[in-house]
Amino acid sequence: MTTLLHLDASLDRNGSATRRLSRAFVERWVRTHPEATILRRDLARDPAPALTETFVRAVKTPPDRRSADERVAWQVSEDLSDEFLSADRYVIGMPMHILTVPSPFKAYLEQIFHAPRVFRQDEAGFAGLLGGRKFLFFVSKGADYRPGAPLHAFDMLEPYLRALLTFCGVHQTDITFVTVNNALSPEGPDAGDAVGANGQVAQLAEGW
Ligand SMILES: Cc1cc2nc3c(=O)[nH]c(=O)nc-3n(C[C@H](O)[C@H](O)[C@H](O)COP(=O)(O)O)c2cc1C
Repeated sequence: MTTLLHLDASLDRNGSATRRLSRAFVERWVRTHPEATILRRDLARDPAPALTETFVRAVKTPPDRRSADERVAWQVSEDLSDEFLSADRYVIGMPMHILTVPSPFKAYLEQIFHAPRVFRQDEAGFAGLLGGRKFLFFVSKGADYRPGAPLHAFDMLEPYLRALLTFCGVHQTDITFVTVNNALSPEGPDAGDAVGANGQVAQLAEGW
């Protein structure tokens, strides 16, 4: 059975462009997938804690020798990871912050992206363990990062997420970005992108 994790990384809980798109998509998608389980993680309301020295000590300590604090820090990570891995589809609202993913999302990644859960390493090298899962990102950026724009090479968000998921074995065709550029332009977000994003919400909700 399909389990979809709906995650929002925007800290703006009222006026967020990426939240509006991810919510609109999930609302449409459930109509054609009524049997699916929907999980929700809102990083503004329920943030993943930043990693601590205690957690790093827990990683280096055998389970039966961990202190009470180390066990708590480890369990937080295990619980977030269990939730993440129980899904096979991911719909993620993702604003650009300082050219890349917002820090609450990076903190979430640091809690869940561990071996041997999302990748493993042996004599043969690294092997990703997330193959077969599908990721759909609704991205909004203040400026214009499209190919040909002066800032194109400064985009560390989409290439980063693609590299990370590819490393973990996700197929390129299972990673989709729906992106609105120029959200902070005085003229408003790029009209083509905005219309395209709304169109993609409807189109992707049918077949994704
Ligand atoms: C802390 C912060 C950092 C940002 N950094 C960038 C940036 O580096 N480049 C950019 O184009 N826009 C940047 N923005 C603008 C957001 O990407 C843009 O407003 C986006 O539409 C926000 O999405 P949201 O409404 O879903 O939160 C930043 C916004 C914030 C709050």
